Amino acid sequence: MKQQNKSILIAGGAGFIGRHLCAKLLQGNVHKVICIDNLSTGSIENIKEFLNNPRFVFLEHDITIRFDIEDDISEIYNFACPASPIQYQKDPIHTFVTSVIGSLRLLKMARKKAQELCLHLQVRYMGIL
Ligand SMILES: NC(=O)c1ccc[n+]([C@@H]2O[C@H](COP(=O)([O-])OP(=O)(O)OC[C@H]3O[C@@H](n4cnc5c(N)ncnc54)[C@H](O)[C@@H]3O)[C@@H](O)[C@H]2O)c1
Repeated sequence: MKQQNKSILIAGGAGFIGRHLCAKLLQGNVHKVICIDNLSTGSIENIKEFLNNPRFVFLEHDITIRFDIEDDISEIYNFACPASPIQYQKDPIHTFVTSVIGSLRLLKMARKKAQELCLHLQVRYMGIL
C-alpha cells in the first residue's frame, strides 16, 4: 500500500529518542520531518546525518516560547524534555515550564492543524521543585 505523504513535527527531535524517530520517519523519502529542539540536552551531532535531506527541517527553538509552523502538520510527537535526573534538576522551573507550557503549545497546534498527536508525557513533574 502506498504511504501518504505527511508533514510531521517532532519536538525534542535532536535528543536520544527523538533522533531515532526522525530517522524512522525519513525512511522511504515519503514524509517531511520538522524537528524543533533547543539543543539543551540534545545535539546537532545526533541529527547531522539528516541536515542535507530536503525532507528534514531543523528549527533551533525552545517550545516554551511562542512559535508557528506554516506547514499543515499531520502528526506531532513530543519528546522535548530532559530525561536524565541530572539534566532535568539543573533548572527545575524550566523543566516544569517545558512540560506544561511547551506541551500546551503543542496541544494548541494540534487542535489547529494536526490530525494526530502523540504526546509523550513523562513523570518529570514529580519531585523537581
Ligand atoms: N531515554 C529513555 O530511556 C526514556 C524512557 C522513558 C521516558 N523517556 C522520556 O522521553 C523523553 C525524551 O527522552 P530522551 O532520552 O530522548 O531525552 P533527551 O534529553 O535526550 O532528549 C530531550 C530533547 O528535548 C530537547 N528539549 C528539552 N527541553 C526543550 C525545550 N524546552 N524546547 C525544545 N527542546 C527541548 C533537548 O535538547 C533534547 O534534544 C523525556 O520526556 C523522557 O522523560 C525517556
